[in-house]
Amino acid sequence: MKRKVGIIGAGHVGSDVAFSLVTQGICDEIILIDKVEAKAESEALELRDMSSMTHFHTTVTANDWEGLKEADVIIMAVGPETLLRQDRMEELVETSRSVAEIVPKILATGFEGIFVNITNPCDVITMLIQKITGFDHSRVFGTGTSLDTARMRRVVGEALHINPKSVEGYVLGEHGESQFVAWSTVKIGGVHITDYKTETTLDLPALKDTVRFGGWNILTGKGWTSFGIATATANIVGALLSDAKQVFPLAVFSEQTNTYIGQPAIIGANGVIDILEPTLTKEEQANFSNSAAVIRKAFDLL
Ligand code: 2OP
Repeated sequence: MKRKVGIIGAGHVGSDVAFSLVTQGICDEIILIDKVEAKAESEALELRDMSSMTHFHTTVTANDWEGLKEADVIIMAVGPETLLRQDRMEELVETSRSVAEIVPKILATGFEGIFVNITNPCDVITMLIQKITGFDHSRVFGTGTSLDTARMRRVVGEALHINPKSVEGYVLGEHGESQFVAWSTVKIGGVHITDYKTETTLDLPALKDTVRFGGWNILTGKGWTSFGIATATANIVGALLSDAKQVFPLAVFSEQTNTYIGQPAIIGANGVIDILEPTLTKEEQANFSNSAAVIRKAFDLL
């Protein structure tokens, strides 16, 4: 059985997701789709140029809508025409229109797999995809705070001069301005960050801002971000296709707040298996509720 992934949007993000999947041999087939068909064709062709050099074989084609029927996973990676400036919510009007056009076309193919949404504002667009598809919440989720969590691990790792892989914990809430680092979950080798002995004085509020500004710092010099989200998405797709039952901080549906929102979830071959609710401090709980309200308000405006 072939492990097949569709990627909608062959811009920086969609193409870098495809690159990550191909170089890591995470799937057997990729269909790249873009409204500018020539762009998807070119990206697919360049990925095929790699096929004599990669360790695994991946068949990459472009613009084959019908082929999406057999996909296990579809990644939504459409972006806006204009570059992001201050808040991912700026993109909502444009990206929600695109998604509302694209999703029915995908459903018309008979696709029965799992939707993973990257398109910003991630939580709101994920909720929109679920609403349009009517799919069970377990089959529609977004990359959520996986990238923000990776940024937190990098920022804390750099501050403490330890490998980010050894920093555990989560950024929760919106993949956006209302996100927060749940410091009560952040540990190094099982030691809570506030108990970790270091000569560096840790300014947690400043570190939190560095995490939140992480994307903006990249956008300033480069104009877009793509490597981090592509790597996060490749890991997520790998977990789905291998039924890994692994935890990622994703935009998943929270019964408690009636919104999609970033929180840890276990995923496997059928999508979301379980959602985890770490014990938060009162302040963190308030931040989570605030983030949920921001997401819900934006969704209700659609
Ligand atoms: C990021 O956080 C802009 O959502 C994008 O890199």
